[in-house]
Amino acid sequence: MPAVRAHAPGKVILFGEHAVVYGRAAIAAPVQQVRATTAVMAEPRLPAGQVRLQAPDIHLDALLDELPAWQPLALAVRLVLGELRAPRLPACTLRITSTIPVASGLGSGAAVTVSLLRAVSTFLGQPLEPSRLSALAYEVEKIHHGTPSGIDNTVIAFEQPVFFVRGQPLETFAPAVPLHLVIGDTGVSSPTAIAVGDVRRAWQAAPAEYEALFDRADRISRQARSEIERGDPTALGLLMVEAQEVLKSMGVSSSDLDRLVAASLAAGALGAKLSGGGRGGNMIALVHSGAASQVAAALEAAGAVRTIITVIQ
Ligand code: MEV
Repeated sequence: MPAVRAHAPGKVILFGEHAVVYGRAAIAAPVQQVRATTAVMAEPRLPAGQVRLQAPDIHLDALLDELPAWQPLALAVRLVLGELRAPRLPACTLRITSTIPVASGLGSGAAVTVSLLRAVSTFLGQPLEPSRLSALAYEVEKIHHGTPSGIDNTVIAFEQPVFFVRGQPLETFAPAVPLHLVIGDTGVSSPTAIAVGDVRRAWQAAPAEYEALFDRADRISRQARSEIERGDPTALGLLMVEAQEVLKSMGVSSSDLDRLVAASLAAGALGAKLSGGGRGGNMIALVHSGAASQVAAALEAAGAVRTIITVIQ
């Protein structure tokens, strides 16, 4: 029986992915149907400081001291120890598992890190506040991709819908009416770092064009926030359709994503777009509550390898 078990949810970006890396506004929400979990098993018979990290999903089973400083899980453990000024952990095994598909835009990297930070700080008797969890997870995010905006670690650590602008104080908010979403997975693995790097190169090659796209995404995110707070899902759906056009112009959609977006709209979704880094991974469709299962079925018929129905409230 673990001494501590800590979780962190997945996330979806509702509006503003990629543009958020360039200081524009974005909106994200946690997805509690999928999550990362870290279980801490105390090993009182082993010498103090002996920490074993097990992450079966990535075939990792190693002692902390054997892992290089840049290894994301090892870095997370060392960051908590530094933050809490703890010289070492009592001997233990840290077992990390996740139901969040990897490289799919649902925040698996940030969720694994946050669950690990939460578990280790709780095991040390000093559970970290969301703002500290987020700041430490951001350090690890930099390894996953060099220029993270910080939105993934923020929404996952705070577990609330967020309106996010890099470098500005965080704003959490509650929608006026629940937002019913169907998430559709293309099944195509697409590391965020690659999509973010490609957008950077495209921006460097055509700065005026990309700045204009980022500005358009920013306007959409700000308008979307008003519609979410006003409780107008129909207007929000139209903004999602426009956001998808902007993301296509940025070059981060794909034929699989486009097919799932079209299938969800044809099945009655109010709006749909890719979510996260793009190129593969997941898309989201906004639906009336009664239409969720029919849209999920249409997504599966169009090739989605899995669907998740979730509500943002
Ligand atoms: C990833 O969830 C969202 C991106 O905008 C990258 C980032 O914000 O760091 C693509």
